[in-house]
Amino acid sequence: MTDPALDAEALRERAVASLITARDRTTLLTSCVEEPDLTAQHSPLMSPLVWDLAHIGNQEEQWLLRTVAGHEAIRPEIDGLYDAFEHPRSERPSLPLLPPEEARRYAADVRGRALDVLEGAAFHGTRLTEAGFAFGMIAQHEQQHDETMLITHQLRRGPQALTAPDPEPVPLFTGPSEVLVPGGPFTMGTSDEPWALDNERPAHRREVAPFRIDTTPVTNAAYQAFIEDGGYDEPRWWTAEGWSHIRRNSVTAPLFWRRDGRQWLRRRFGVTEVVPPDEPVLHVCWYEADAYARWAGRRLPSEAEWEKAARYDPSGDRSMRYPWGDADPGPEHANLGQRHLRPAPAGSYPAGESPLGVRQLIGDVWEWTSSDFLPYPGFRAFPYKEYSEVFFGPEYKVLRGGSFAVDPVACRGTFRNWDLPIRRQIFSGFRTARSEDV
Ligand code: AVJ
Ligand code: FE
Repeated sequence: MTDPALDAEALRERAVASLITARDRTTLLTSCVEEPDLTAQHSPLMSPLVWDLAHIGNQEEQWLLRTVAGHEAIRPEIDGLYDAFEHPRSERPSLPLLPPEEARRYAADVRGRALDVLEGAAFHGTRLTEAGFAFGMIAQHEQQHDETMLITHQLRRGPQALTAPDPEPVPLFTGPSEVLVPGGPFTMGTSDEPWALDNERPAHRREVAPFRIDTTPVTNAAYQAFIEDGGYDEPRWWTAEGWSHIRRNSVTAPLFWRRDGRQWLRRRFGVTEVVPPDEPVLHVCWYEADAYARWAGRRLPSEAEWEKAARYDPSGDRSMRYPWGDADPGPEHANLGQRHLRPAPAGSYPAGESPLGVRQLIGDVWEWTSSDFLPYPGFRAFPYKEYSEVFFGPEYKVLRGGSFAVDPVACRGTFRNWDLPIRRQIFSGFRTARSEDV
């Protein structure tokens, strides 16, 4: 078991820093475009940016001010507008939302009071305040919406609004294409990571048969070989639902790709560019990832396999917080936090390698797994059923590892994301696996 061994004061400082980092990101994402772009709906899949902004403030008010500190509601009449379950995304632009300036003022007002609450809060006593969980949860919530807002920026038409430096170029990766993960039990999930969310808990033993997994995520060049080989025209690579989905919707390449003669172009945050061959493929749905794997004579890893590859340290026979150990992510370990607005080339971040030699498990692209989103044995919804529990079941597939758009506070070896198998506006890629021949 890992023990971050952080005392309350260190956790309090971490909570302050995480909330500030999240708000800096939110401010950037909502100030780099003009007002009409904040209130417009850029895709029926997404909320207007101004909805995310006030929803971030509203969740913070509900959990930190009302629940933890017992304050009265600041604006009780707006709760319904920002309840994700009351209004699906497609309806949100027609709601009487707070206009941008008011939404900014509301979120800032809540934040000022939340920092006062945080200063004096006991970091023990209730499950919500233990180790500052509620503050960590709210920082993660804001960062999750910052990733959502970045997806909205990617879907938005029009000129570039955001820029960031590219990742360092690296020599073409020449290591082994796959590594063997030994069979046997390992510890999956966590019971002692202070800000782990309900679906990551509790830690439990899981038996995994020996398997091999790709050293890096599948690249654009490899994915192009699947396309050029007619992968989208061959029903045998696809599940029945996948085949009918891509036929009905004329899916013939990753989202945002366009063929230009012999090469592929893609649109990325308002710029059209040649698809870089060595970068992990991005914007594929589960059906595409699954079909590619079958074409390659392989399969997607299960969620347990992915986590064992990411956390298992054979030398200590234990699960670590991250592939590189228990240290928090630094820029040398992984491409996280919207520091870059693209994945880094396959084989980057040798310092982030797992003990078994697997790279880029954390950051760059969310990785589809073969698994449905299900509760771990002993799961308890906390603090609300609508975070995880209402999504459990066969409709949702699990994604692991986080993307370049995820902040370190919302990314760990145990962190679980989920989405429908048709979704590909998210920053999703994958790696493949195969069972070890016995
Ligand atoms: C965990 C990314 C699927 O965005 O729907 C945000 C996170 N939950 N607000 C989502 C979330 C409530 C959630 N995902
Ligand atoms: Fe939310």
